[in-house]
Amino acid sequence: MASPVKVLFVCLGNICRSPLAEGVFRAAVAARAEAEDVRVDSCGTGGWHVGESPDPRSVEVGRANGVDISGQRGRQLAPGDYRRFDWLVAMDRSNLQAVLDRQPKDSLARVVAFMDYVPNAPGEDVPDPYYGGPRGFQNVYDLLSAGAGPLLDAVLAER
Ligand code: 4NP
Repeated sequence: MASPVKVLFVCLGNICRSPLAEGVFRAAVAARAEAEDVRVDSCGTGGWHVGESPDPRSVEVGRANGVDISGQRGRQLAPGDYRRFDWLVAMDRSNLQAVLDRQPKDSLARVVAFMDYVPNAPGEDVPDPYYGGPRGFQNVYDLLSAGAGPLLDAVLAER
Protein backbone atom coordinates (compact mmCIF):
# COMPACT_ATOMS: atom_id res chain seq x y z
CA MET A 1 0.00 0.00 0.00
CA ALA A 2 1.42 3.36 -1.02
CA SER A 3 1.76 6.09 1.60
CA PRO A 4 -1.03 8.68 1.86
CA VAL A 5 -0.56 11.90 -0.03
CA LYS A 6 -2.25 15.17 0.87
CA VAL A 7 -3.19 17.91 -1.56
CA LEU A 8 -4.33 21.41 -0.52
CA PHE A 9 -5.92 23.83 -3.01
CA VAL A 10 -5.37 27.51 -2.26
CA CYS A 11 -7.14 30.65 -3.54
CA LEU A 12 -7.79 34.06 -2.02
CA GLY A 13 -11.11 33.71 -0.21
CA ASN A 14 -11.72 29.92 -0.13
CA ILE A 15 -15.32 30.43 -1.24
CA CYS A 16 -15.18 30.41 -5.07
CA ARG A 17 -12.26 28.62 -6.76
CA SER A 18 -10.46 26.39 -4.25
CA PRO A 19 -13.62 24.83 -2.75
CA LEU A 20 -14.66 23.85 -6.27
CA ALA A 21 -11.13 22.62 -7.00
CA GLU A 22 -11.35 20.48 -3.85
CA GLY A 23 -14.65 18.97 -5.01
CA VAL A 24 -13.59 18.37 -8.60
CA PHE A 25 -10.26 16.84 -7.54
CA ARG A 26 -11.95 14.65 -4.93
CA ALA A 27 -14.21 13.31 -7.68
CA ALA A 28 -11.15 12.57 -9.84
CA VAL A 29 -9.55 10.77 -6.88
CA ALA A 30 -12.70 8.73 -6.25
CA ALA A 31 -12.70 7.58 -9.88
CA ARG A 32 -9.15 6.15 -9.64
CA ALA A 33 -8.60 2.97 -7.66
CA GLU A 34 -4.89 3.63 -7.18
CA ALA A 35 -5.65 7.04 -5.66
CA GLU A 36 -7.66 5.76 -2.69
CA ASP A 37 -5.17 7.21 -0.20
CA VAL A 38 -5.09 10.72 -1.69
CA ARG A 39 -6.51 13.31 0.76
CA VAL A 40 -7.88 16.67 -0.41
CA ASP A 41 -8.61 20.01 1.28
CA SER A 42 -8.77 23.71 0.41
CA CYS A 43 -8.12 27.09 2.05
CA GLY A 44 -7.66 30.78 1.31
CA THR A 45 -4.69 33.07 1.78
CA GLY A 46 -7.15 35.60 3.26
CA GLY A 47 -9.38 35.19 6.29
CA TRP A 48 -12.52 37.12 5.32
CA HIS A 49 -14.69 34.04 4.75
CA VAL A 50 -13.55 31.68 7.50
CA GLY A 51 -16.40 29.37 8.51
CA GLU A 52 -18.58 30.30 5.53
CA SER A 53 -20.16 28.02 2.96
CA PRO A 54 -18.82 28.22 -0.59
CA ASP A 55 -20.25 30.96 -2.82
CA PRO A 56 -23.71 29.82 -4.08
CA ARG A 57 -22.49 30.21 -7.67
CA SER A 58 -19.69 27.69 -7.06
CA VAL A 59 -22.11 25.36 -5.29
CA GLU A 60 -24.46 25.60 -8.28
CA VAL A 61 -21.91 24.92 -11.01
CA GLY A 62 -20.62 21.99 -8.94
CA ARG A 63 -24.13 20.63 -8.44
CA ALA A 64 -24.89 20.94 -12.16
CA ASN A 65 -21.85 18.73 -12.79
CA GLY A 66 -22.47 16.18 -10.03
CA VAL A 67 -20.01 17.64 -7.50
CA ASP A 68 -21.47 18.52 -4.08
CA ILE A 69 -19.36 21.12 -2.26
CA SER A 70 -22.18 22.51 -0.09
CA GLY A 71 -20.84 20.99 3.13
CA GLN A 72 -17.39 22.56 2.88
CA ARG A 73 -16.47 25.58 5.03
CA GLY A 74 -13.94 28.34 4.45
CA ARG A 75 -10.65 28.40 6.31
CA GLN A 76 -7.39 30.31 6.06
CA LEU A 77 -3.97 28.95 5.13
CA ALA A 78 -2.10 28.16 8.37
CA PRO A 79 1.61 27.54 9.11
CA GLY A 80 0.89 23.89 9.94
CA ASP A 81 -0.44 23.31 6.40
CA TYR A 82 3.13 23.45 5.13
CA ARG A 83 3.94 20.33 7.17
CA ARG A 84 0.63 18.50 6.90
CA PHE A 85 0.30 18.71 3.12
CA ASP A 86 2.56 17.30 0.41
CA TRP A 87 1.19 19.56 -2.34
CA LEU A 88 -0.04 23.14 -2.13
CA VAL A 89 -1.80 24.01 -5.38
CA ALA A 90 -2.41 27.72 -6.06
CA MET A 91 -5.26 28.92 -8.25
CA ASP A 92 -3.49 32.00 -9.64
CA ARG A 93 -0.09 33.68 -9.71
CA SER A 94 -0.98 36.02 -6.87
CA ASN A 95 -2.02 33.08 -4.65
CA LEU A 96 1.15 31.23 -5.69
CA GLN A 97 3.34 34.15 -4.62
CA ALA A 98 1.51 34.49 -1.29
CA VAL A 99 1.92 30.76 -0.57
CA LEU A 100 5.63 30.88 -1.45
CA ASP A 101 6.20 34.03 0.63
CA ARG A 102 4.81 32.30 3.74
CA GLN A 103 6.53 28.94 3.25
CA PRO A 104 8.68 28.04 6.28
CA LYS A 105 12.29 27.20 5.44
CA ASP A 106 11.96 23.62 6.70
CA SER A 107 8.79 22.90 4.70
CA LEU A 108 9.12 20.13 2.12
CA ALA A 109 5.71 20.78 0.55
CA ARG A 110 5.59 21.22 -3.21
CA VAL A 111 4.07 24.56 -4.11
CA VAL A 112 2.67 24.60 -7.66
CA ALA A 113 0.31 26.54 -9.92
CA PHE A 114 -2.84 24.66 -10.94
CA MET A 115 -2.74 26.13 -14.44
CA ASP A 116 0.53 24.29 -15.11
CA TYR A 117 -1.57 21.10 -15.29
CA VAL A 118 -4.28 22.40 -17.64
CA PRO A 119 -3.53 21.30 -21.22
CA ASN A 120 -3.50 24.03 -23.88
CA ALA A 121 -4.51 26.68 -21.35
CA PRO A 122 -4.73 30.17 -22.74
CA GLY A 123 -3.90 31.89 -19.43
CA GLU A 124 -1.75 31.47 -16.39
CA ASP A 125 -4.50 31.98 -13.81
CA VAL A 126 -7.73 30.35 -12.79
CA PRO A 127 -9.46 33.74 -12.97
CA ASP A 128 -11.13 35.07 -9.82
CA PRO A 129 -14.88 34.90 -10.67
CA TYR A 130 -16.09 36.67 -7.51
CA TYR A 131 -17.14 39.97 -9.09
CA GLY A 132 -18.43 38.51 -12.37
CA GLY A 133 -21.44 36.50 -13.51
CA PRO A 134 -22.18 32.77 -13.78
CA ARG A 135 -20.12 32.36 -16.95
CA GLY A 136 -16.99 33.06 -14.92
CA PHE A 137 -17.87 30.20 -12.60
CA GLN A 138 -18.48 27.85 -15.53
CA ASN A 139 -15.06 28.84 -16.89
CA VAL A 140 -13.49 28.05 -13.51
CA TYR A 141 -15.22 24.67 -13.48
CA ASP A 142 -14.01 23.90 -17.02
CA LEU A 143 -10.40 24.74 -16.13
CA LEU A 144 -10.56 22.68 -12.92
CA SER A 145 -12.07 19.77 -14.74
CA ALA A 146 -9.37 19.93 -17.45
CA GLY A 147 -6.46 20.08 -15.00
CA ALA A 148 -7.64 17.65 -12.30
CA GLY A 149 -6.63 14.48 -14.16
CA PRO A 150 -3.14 15.70 -15.16
CA LEU A 151 -2.55 16.98 -11.61
CA LEU A 152 -3.61 13.63 -10.16
CA ASP A 153 -1.26 11.87 -12.60
CA ALA A 154 1.61 14.02 -11.28
CA VAL A 155 0.67 13.44 -7.64
CA LEU A 156 0.52 9.67 -8.13
CA ALA A 157 3.75 9.60 -10.17
CA GLU A 158 5.78 11.51 -7.59
CA ARG A 159 4.70 9.97 -4.32
P1 4NP B 1 -11.86 32.97 -4.35
O1 4NP B 1 -12.71 34.27 -4.73
O2 4NP B 1 -10.46 33.44 -4.02
O3 4NP B 1 -11.89 32.15 -5.58
O4 4NP B 1 -12.56 32.33 -3.18
C1 4NP B 1 -12.81 35.38 -3.87
C2 4NP B 1 -13.77 35.39 -2.89
C3 4NP B 1 -13.88 36.48 -2.05
C4 4NP B 1 -13.02 37.54 -2.19
C5 4NP B 1 -12.06 37.52 -3.18
C6 4NP B 1 -11.95 36.42 -4.02
N1 4NP B 1 -13.15 38.69 -1.34
O5 4NP B 1 -12.43 39.66 -1.56
O6 4NP B 1 -13.95 38.66 -0.42
